[in-house]
Amino acid sequence: MQSKIDSLRVEIEEALKGDVNREAFKAAREKYLSKKGIVPSLMTELRNFSPEERPVMGKLINEFKVWAEARFDEVEEGIKKAELEKKNSAEAVDVTMPGIRNNTGALHPITLVKKELIDILSGLGFEIFEGPEIETDYYNFTALNVPKDHPARDAQDTFYFSDDILLRTHTSPGQIRTMLSKKPPIKVIVPGRVFRCDDDATHTPMFHQMEGLLVDKNITLCHLYGMLDRLAKSLFSDDVKTRLRPSYFPFTEPSVEVDVTCCECGGSGCGLCKGTGWIEVLGAGMVNRNVLIECGLDPEEYSGFAFGIGLDRIAMLKYGMNNIHILFDNDIRTLKQFKKHDK
Ligand code: DAH
Repeated sequence: MQSKIDSLRVEIEEALKGDVNREAFKAAREKYLSKKGIVPSLMTELRNFSPEERPVMGKLINEFKVWAEARFDEVEEGIKKAELEKKNSAEAVDVTMPGIRNNTGALHPITLVKKELIDILSGLGFEIFEGPEIETDYYNFTALNVPKDHPARDAQDTFYFSDDILLRTHTSPGQIRTMLSKKPPIKVIVPGRVFRCDDDATHTPMFHQMEGLLVDKNITLCHLYGMLDRLAKSLFSDDVKTRLRPSYFPFTEPSVEVDVTCCECGGSGCGLCKGTGWIEVLGAGMVNRNVLIECGLDPEEYSGFAFGIGLDRIAMLKYGMNNIHILFDNDIRTLKQFKKHDK
């Protein structure tokens, strides 16, 4: 038995010699150590020995089995280690290699202005409402106290789908849609795209506005003024001054034009403000009683203010652009400059 074991030991060492690969290793373990493998089968030979010899032989076989198992385990460790090293070196990262730069975009200046206004006005308690860009004549004009053939329609010529359906010329129809769908207190802003047949250095056929509407009991022009002053200070800077100038809009009475001190010269007069020290930023006023009545609200009980801001105009003022087309030319060099404003 001892000589048999000795030659098996040599045989096993032979099978595990050198850089044995995983397949050959598995086959060898199967051959020698599986249940019916050569080593466990040695036990069947015990029956050829006398009862006295059997324990001695059994011990010999067992010790050999323990040795063989340890030997296979040891070789397997080596194989695993070699495999891991191979995998690691194949995956090695060269930390000195230049990285792949991700080309991130920047928000468009109009989006920046819109986000900022929403931020300020939602902080003042205004909710956002969005109306359709394709409107009916009723919401865009008639309900806003601009009946057919009213001269004010000339200032807002637009694109018609039919006599009655058009691309909205302003976000003011959002006022009507909110007043018809909810009862006061109403406090909404309506951002969106609007359209007019205009095209020059300061006008494009599509541009952006944000409407504001507040309707409640006892609302006065002072509320409007206080709110707009806060808005202008948050939007430009705390030392900006605001003034209201009498104006005319069919849907407000009284109507005002809102000016802020020039962001370029601070009010002393320059090219941007045409020497006046003031820059017009938006139109506003107290909701015309005809509009309240049209929306089913009693003007004796409720009053409100409304305002309409041109987002493109604010973007031009804030970022110092003199031609509105810069906003729509999609020149990547222009847009890239706005990365720093994108918080
Ligand atoms: N809708 C007006 C325009 O597009 C802007 C405007 C003026 C809106 C006065 C208002 C307002 O709500 O009260 O020219």
